[in-house]
Amino acid sequence: MSITGSQFDKVAEEYDFVTNLLNDNTFFIANMPIEKGRALDIGCGTGILVYELSNYFSEVVGIDISEGMLEFANKKRQCSNISYLKMDAENLSLGYKFAYIVSRTTFHHLRDISIVINQMKELLYEGGKIVILDNVSKVETPPTYVYILGAIQEFLPNCFKFGVKNAVRVFKYNTSKSWLEHLASDKYLSEQKYYEIYGKLLPNCTFRRMNWAMGIIWEKPIVSMITE
Ligand SMILES: C[S@@+](CC[C@H](N)C(=O)[O-])C[C@H]1O[C@@H](n2cnc3c(N)ncnc32)[C@H](O)[C@@H]1O
Repeated sequence: MSITGSQFDKVAEEYDFVTNLLNDNTFFIANMPIEKGRALDIGCGTGILVYELSNYFSEVVGIDISEGMLEFANKKRQCSNISYLKMDAENLSLGYKFAYIVSRTTFHHLRDISIVINQMKELLYEGGKIVILDNVSKVETPPTYVYILGAIQEFLPNCFKFGVKNAVRVFKYNTSKSWLEHLASDKYLSEQKYYEIYGKLLPNCTFRRMNWAMGIIWEKPIVSMITE
């Protein structure tokens, strides 16, 4: 499923607030490659993961199609070794390779996953890693009431974790018209589909089921031989 960047343009600021509050980069940090040259984040949004990776890698590139998200990233999460580019994941145009290519909660927006994965494999150094995390669901597009019920259920625990003011802001965002409209156009894969689709595209990858998400880890085999 592909969306225009404009859906995210509308929600960039509140998206950033909520995602940053609930953020957890552990999966991406735990699966980094040994080589820490250049990293790429596909669908980087407001740069939350890019910024974290810039602590470990010599250079980090974040690409996204939403001008609103990139504007926010440039304003709030800049560093000398970070660059943000407006680019479609399905038409990656980067003249260099990477040691680490990541993507979080972006793949369900893409029209053709295989095009993107094949480009990612090309852009990766041998021994480099691809790590993807995306939503998993038994129902392709859950009905809106499911998200509203979820937001109600999370409200009290969020009050304890983040304080009432922040919990109200999260609740308002999660039940806002623009966010619910966005979610109504999302299409998620089932656990079984993940195994079928990604298992073929990334042979011998590892799957990690985490609550609402599926994590995928793939290391590019080293095939080059040193010839005398
Ligand atoms: C749910 S957000 C996730 C943002 C970020 N990865 C994070 O974890 O906070 C999905 C992002 O994917 C971007 N996106 C959607 N389709 C895209 C495409 N074809 N190419 C590049 N970015 C895309 C959206 O603009 C949005 O910023």
